[in-house]
Amino acid sequence: MKVIITENYDEMSKKAAEIMIDLVKSNPNAVLGLATGSSPIGMYQYMAKDCKENGTSYKNVSTVNLDEYVGLTADHDQSYAYFMRSNLFDHIDIDLKNTNLPCGSAPDTNAECDRYNTLLETKKQDVQVLGLGSNGHIGFNEPGTPLDSVTHLVDLTENTIKDNSRLFSSIDEVPRQALSMGIKNIMNAKSILMVVSGKNKAEAVRGMVKGEITTALPASVLQLHPFVTIICDKDAASLL
Ligand code: F6R
Repeated sequence: MKVIITENYDEMSKKAAEIMIDLVKSNPNAVLGLATGSSPIGMYQYMAKDCKENGTSYKNVSTVNLDEYVGLTADHDQSYAYFMRSNLFDHIDIDLKNTNLPCGSAPDTNAECDRYNTLLETKKQDVQVLGLGSNGHIGFNEPGTPLDSVTHLVDLTENTIKDNSRLFSSIDEVPRQALSMGIKNIMNAKSILMVVSGKNKAEAVRGMVKGEITTALPASVLQLHPFVTIICDKDAASLL
């Protein structure tokens, strides 16, 4: 695991964007595994700025996102599909046809998970971007998720519902379930790029980097991946 500690969120975002941009420049057909949440927003802004100012092109890039809330359609403003368009896809020259997320409004969630797992077999991520839950989750793989899990239906924990409620007008509006890539789908990526910031993540960062590998802290499994870069601000790194 390569751990890069930055002064703040902005520096973390800039460094992470540089890695993404270098990858796209060296491989214009790259498959980018993407994440939502607060952590990668700054990175996406730097990528968008670079696309506009320096012309880095995403025309032949394709993307696979980690997860989506169950019950929200792609045009719901809290869906992850909407998040990806408003934070990245609308600001770069990507073809929306090449962007993929699990469909949270699919009538048959099992069939949707199967579809997504099949898709991931043909679209192996050159890089998988991750954030880190304060309970150590990656994607929506909550503590206790088996390490060999693939895309599945998840009952979100109270902790995650509470963390995510800041984006909704009330905690009652936060969906209780999500479809998430499994840990095995994440570990299949050729490389992993995690962005983490804030004191509330410090304990999880410590466990992920220095603790034992345990399903109680899903991110600890990343110790087994050969190409992991973790970029964290000094608050998130404060217990290392
Ligand atoms: C998002 C995702 C989650 C988040 C994590 C951190 O697609 O899968 O694992 O990365 O919950 O969220 P933030 O960045 O909002 O602190």
